Amino acid sequence: MRLYLQQFLSVYILVLPALLPQGVPATVIINDSSELPLQSYDYIVVGGGTTGLAVANRLAVEYSVLVVERGPDLVDNEDINNPFTTYGTPSPCRFSMEGAPQIGSNGVKPMRLTYGSCLGGGSSINGLMGARPTFAGMNAVEALGNPGWGWNNFLPYMQKSETFTPPDPIQITEGADYIASVHGFSGPVGVSFAQPLVAPKMQGAAKSTVKSVFDDAVTLTPDMGDGFSGGHVASLYHHIHFNQTLQSDRRSSSAWSYLYPELQQRVGLAVLTGHRVNSLVTLKSASGNVTAVGVRVQPTSGGQIFTLDVSKEVVVTAGALYSPAILQRSGIGNSTYLKGLGITPVLDLPGVGANFQDQPYLVNVSFPLAPSNNITSITGGADTLVGVVVAHLTARNALGSEGLEQLRYFDVTMTDDDCSEGATEMNSLIRNISADKALSVGGVVQSQTLITQARLTADAYEIDHPIVEFFFNPTLTVLQVWAQSILPLSRGFIRINTTDPSEDPIADAQYLTQDVDVQIMVAAARVVSKIASSPPFSNLLSPNALADSGVPGVNATDDQVKQWVLSTYTAGIHFVGSNAMMPKDLGGVVSPELLVYGTSNIRIADASVIPLSVFPHTTLGLYGVAEKAAEVIVQRAKDEAHSI
Ligand SMILES: Cc1cc2nc3c(=O)[nH]c(=O)nc-3n(C[C@H](O)[C@H](O)[C@H](O)COP(=O)(O)OP(=O)(O)OC[C@H]3O[C@@H](n4cnc5c(N)ncnc54)[C@H](O)[C@@H]3O)c2cc1C
Ligand SMILES: *[C@@H]1O[C@H](CO)[C@@H](O)[C@H](O)[C@H]1NC(C)=O
Ligand SMILES: *[C@@H]1O[C@H](CO)[C@@H](O)[C@H](O)[C@H]1NC(C)=O
Ligand SMILES: *[C@@H]1O[C@H](CO)[C@@H](O)[C@H](O)[C@H]1NC(C)=O
Ligand SMILES: *[C@@H]1O[C@H](CO)[C@@H](O)[C@H](O)[C@H]1NC(C)=O
Ligand SMILES: *[C@@H]1O[C@H](CO)[C@@H](O)[C@H](O)[C@H]1NC(C)=O
Ligand SMILES: *[C@@H]1O[C@H](CO)[C@@H](O)[C@H](O)[C@H]1NC(C)=O
Ligand SMILES: *[C@@H]1O[C@H](CO)[C@@H](O)[C@H](O)[C@H]1NC(C)=O
Ligand SMILES: *[C@@H]1O[C@H](CO)[C@@H](O)[C@H](O)[C@H]1NC(C)=O
Ligand SMILES: *[C@@H]1O[C@H](CO)[C@@H](O)[C@H](O)[C@H]1NC(C)=O
Repeated sequence: MRLYLQQFLSVYILVLPALLPQGVPATVIINDSSELPLQSYDYIVVGGGTTGLAVANRLAVEYSVLVVERGPDLVDNEDINNPFTTYGTPSPCRFSMEGAPQIGSNGVKPMRLTYGSCLGGGSSINGLMGARPTFAGMNAVEALGNPGWGWNNFLPYMQKSETFTPPDPIQITEGADYIASVHGFSGPVGVSFAQPLVAPKMQGAAKSTVKSVFDDAVTLTPDMGDGFSGGHVASLYHHIHFNQTLQSDRRSSSAWSYLYPELQQRVGLAVLTGHRVNSLVTLKSASGNVTAVGVRVQPTSGGQIFTLDVSKEVVVTAGALYSPAILQRSGIGNSTYLKGLGITPVLDLPGVGANFQDQPYLVNVSFPLAPSNNITSITGGADTLVGVVVAHLTARNALGSEGLEQLRYFDVTMTDDDCSEGATEMNSLIRNISADKALSVGGVVQSQTLITQARLTADAYEIDHPIVEFFFNPTLTVLQVWAQSILPLSRGFIRINTTDPSEDPIADAQYLTQDVDVQIMVAAARVVSKIASSPPFSNLLSPNALADSGVPGVNATDDQVKQWVLSTYTAGIHFVGSNAMMPKDLGGVVSPELLVYGTSNIRIADASVIPLSVFPHTTLGLYGVAEKAAEVIVQRAKDEAHSI
């Protein structure tokens, strides 16, 4: 039966081009389900966002693939395509949900969580900042129990996804640089420096100041993507196609990389927009494995629910906010909790939705320009991009060597008496992690999970993984210096509280609920005030810029800085971890092959699988995840074809 279906499908696909206008073999993109070429597909990809379109593109080279995306196709929308539209420009792809209230300076504060919902997902609205994980970060992911995910194994997948455009000689004079060996030059995603390079005057000032503030312990790095270790500062590249003939100055969203270009047309690929996957249709085999046989789909604006069948695998790529909700609505999650909602449990996997994390951000930090430095002289007249210079500081840079010592991990199960190193180290920040607190709020399913993650995080800091990132952004009247903590240890959850699929899940990142995360943000805020008061950067600013900005001055007490941090911080919108790739007994949801534990064919391949927040920005790393996922999936299909 199965074989017959395969043969039928391949015949159907072979003849499909003839049905299309002028015989052009093209991907089908529709919003009307009655126009679907097939009712059953080899693979169904749930969510046509950053990772979903990349996975689908690779699978559709040889198989029939359907992508279901709840948002629209906004192919011609200039607010999306133009990379120079400033951060925050209203975009029909930009949405936000009210997340759970978070800790603030006087009690709780509301927290809105932004995401993209159209073809391309987050990559169609994001800040385009191109950064990669570090080798210390990826090696920590591997050490958590994920063989094959260390830096050396992972780099080739990021390279496969990109076409890097090296800076031209003028850009190099102005500060851009690169290391060819870590890049890819024939993948779908355009990665380039702004053309012309944005704000050369500010770039130089920002770099010199970061170096001087850290007594030259921070180096100028040619390339952000080389897996670096140690503090450094560099000009940033962005996810932009700068190919003048093909896609001049266009945002390289996953849609403009993996879906729309002529070279990427796939006759086996259908994309259904404006439709939401409510849940997966599953069967349980006698052996206990759960198998997905289809998805339940509904027009996003409401209407008839229908089922589409899948013969090989379902790949869930609805993002870290929504993928856990789809699993939970399908009965995959904490069975006790799901029963309480009236959902019949299919698979007891309490880690679904746990381990949710985000990087806390200080973005409301703007320093007025000195009158002599108007925007023209700062930017050179070009449009601006977010984060034209990025500095990564290590624990040693941000907290001093004593600070690094403070962060050092000591076995948290040890008592004071066991610790020969003495009382100060007993007070070390990471040792002070409260696994019980994370457990009590549902951030982890057992305390050992956070203890293990804290130890691996501390190990990464030991080898100088960055602890905070600073961005320098020019705008029309101010220079902004933003700070983001990179490897937070606070853990929250994504959890549906209703069976209504049109309702958002509860999204609670539990920002700054671990003391170590607060202390890191306090250190970051102090660095911001040092930068704003140090030349040559301070020379670009008005004399009262620091006071006008509201950032606590260099003499503020720790408590004053902490209060400012708690009132100012916001969501970093780099959501990860809510279907963590981790051993199952630590609360993991997917295996290193990205297969949901206990299932035979449900794969997850988006930001939700990243167990630790090791991507300073997620996108370029996520393309690597998608490429790796596609390879694993195709390999399995080939193995099974051979064994028939
Ligand atoms: C405002 C903003 C700025 C950012 N800036 C940067 C940056 O400068 N650099 C960087 O690297 N990263 C940045 N990021 C982060 C990055 O864009 C995201 O982490 C990344 O896009 C997530 O990719 P994903 O594939 O996991 O999910 P997404 O790209 O979010 O894709 C998920 C898709 O699934 C769809 N979907 C959800 N539920 C369903 C359902 N039930 N049925 C069907 N479809 C569904 C959604 O509509 C969406 O299209 C930013 C993010 C935001 C929101
Ligand atoms: C569906 O697609 C058609 C054709 O592209 C378009 O005109 C229409 O506006 C779309 N409808 C919705 C609801 O997005
Ligand atoms: C731009 O893309 C076209 C088509 O792929 C290619 O022929 C050309 O060499 C590219 N130009 C540059 C400058 O990369
Ligand atoms: C599962 O949910 C129940 C009910 O909400 C809760 O009491 C229990 O702690 C949860 N189990 C795990 C492992 O998270
Ligand atoms: C900006 O400054 C430059 C010189 O620094 C000057 O030539 C130019 O007129 C100024 N522009 C505005 C709008 O003030
Ligand atoms: C440990 O963390 C708690 C909050 O969880 C904080 O109040 C306390 O000051 C911290 N102790 C040390 C020594 O850092
Ligand atoms: C679910 O949670 C959301 C957000 O916290 C809340 O607004 C809503 O009332 C809750 N719904 C139910 C049915 O509990
Ligand atoms: C941003 O900072 C300014 C200046 O300190 C302050 O007036 C404003 O309230 C802040 N906005 C938010 C949203 O925190
Ligand atoms: C900080 O305090 C020192 C010592 O009291 C003082 O000399 C200095 O002027 C102060 N700096 C600022 C910016 O207030
Ligand atoms: C469940 O499915 C996986 C993936 O196909 C397979 O490796 C495993 O052997 C299956 N387990 C059982 C008990 O059939």
